[in-house]
Amino acid sequence: MWFRGVSSTSLRVCKQGLRQYRILALESSCDDACVALLEKPSADQSLQLIDEAKSTLNSKEVGGIIPTAAHEFHQAVLGDLVSAFCSKHSISAATPPDLLCVTQGPGMVGSLSASLQLAKGLAVAWNRPLIGVHHMLGHLLSPQLAESELKFPFLSLLCSGGHTMLVLLTSLTDHEVIINTTDIAAGDSIDKCARLLGLKGDMLGPQLERLVENIAVDTKTKFASKEWRRDSQLRYPKPMRSSKHKKIPDVLEFSFAPFLSTLQAHNVDDASRSYAAYALQEAIFDHIVDRIGVAFAKHGSKLSYEFGDGKFEGVSDFVCSGGVAANHVLRQKLSEKFGQDLTFHFPPLKLCTDNAAMIGNAGVEIFEKLRLKSRLSIVPVRKWPFDEMLDLGNWENVTPEEYARVTGYEDK
Ligand code: KG4
Ligand code: ZN
Repeated sequence: MWFRGVSSTSLRVCKQGLRQYRILALESSCDDACVALLEKPSADQSLQLIDEAKSTLNSKEVGGIIPTAAHEFHQAVLGDLVSAFCSKHSISAATPPDLLCVTQGPGMVGSLSASLQLAKGLAVAWNRPLIGVHHMLGHLLSPQLAESELKFPFLSLLCSGGHTMLVLLTSLTDHEVIINTTDIAAGDSIDKCARLLGLKGDMLGPQLERLVENIAVDTKTKFASKEWRRDSQLRYPKPMRSSKHKKIPDVLEFSFAPFLSTLQAHNVDDASRSYAAYALQEAIFDHIVDRIGVAFAKHGSKLSYEFGDGKFEGVSDFVCSGGVAANHVLRQKLSEKFGQDLTFHFPPLKLCTDNAAMIGNAGVEIFEKLRLKSRLSIVPVRKWPFDEMLDLGNWENVTPEEYARVTGYEDK
């Protein structure tokens, strides 16, 4: 089969009778074709996800996403997916949504262009404003869909197949990447290592997590013991660790390629597979937690004012998003290490992976807080640095009349 099936869920339904504005959001930056409908009942009520649908390219046989196949997939699938979704929700030219949001980048240009073209067409046909959303902003703000608004400044760990970065967000538009990966992303490393461990398919993180979950508790205790690790032939590296025991090590980078090269150099047989899988998760997630600890030592917070430069002052929220953030071992390690001083926000699993709801949420933030919309001349952006979110020159101001027309709010 060409694609992995269509899922559709209904989460919360708005109270009847309120004036609500409706947002239709599309996302196709990688291999997921996604559509979502959201509603905003009033200015001070939070955005509600009404329904969403997703269809995913099946890359199982080829073992990775081929950009041309993804492009073709989106071209073939997205129109029907959105059409069926609109029919289901009685969205038509006579009853259009009030705002259209779509991922503009970063991502694969062929994939992005499918939903961007469709969204432009709908914006023209329905005479509605269009918001071209930065995919990462979608991930970073996604917990808003599950709970109350996040308080700036906050830290966000974005941990996916394409990115692993710790970002400090001081406002909707001010983002500083504090730690980035020097080589591949954590999810990419996990997927490639899992394949070397004999798992089949693509996006192998959940399979690896299940494999480790199914190891008996006393076996895991044995694996965690010093003696076992000392005697084991397989030793994963501790990337970036300073050997000089400085109080504030200065290497603020992630690195996930060394885990892969270690496994490539090691012959994992049936007997050693469980340990190799268990220790891989431990090593990768310990590395992430360790580097975040270094960031706190360097930039200060409630955790270590003594040494820090104060950059993290006022930070008390920590968001963990992206596909890898679904992993319970990572969640537990982060909470154990930093949970006393920080409030962790783990979006529901559905919101951790690519989805259109997060694009709608970020689009509404841009429309309402920045009063901006995209020009119809926007193009897909393959690489889009975070700190250039507003510098592409494709934004125009929303007039008070348009703002009131779309939202139905009384403008203040
Ligand atoms: O954010 P995402 O859905 O897509 C992008 O990369 O944009 O992330 C996908 C990545 C894949 O590498 C997948 O294996 C990994 O997230 N992943 C996980 C888990 N669920 C998804 N990795 C570890 N444990 C999981 N439970
Ligand atoms: Zn993503």
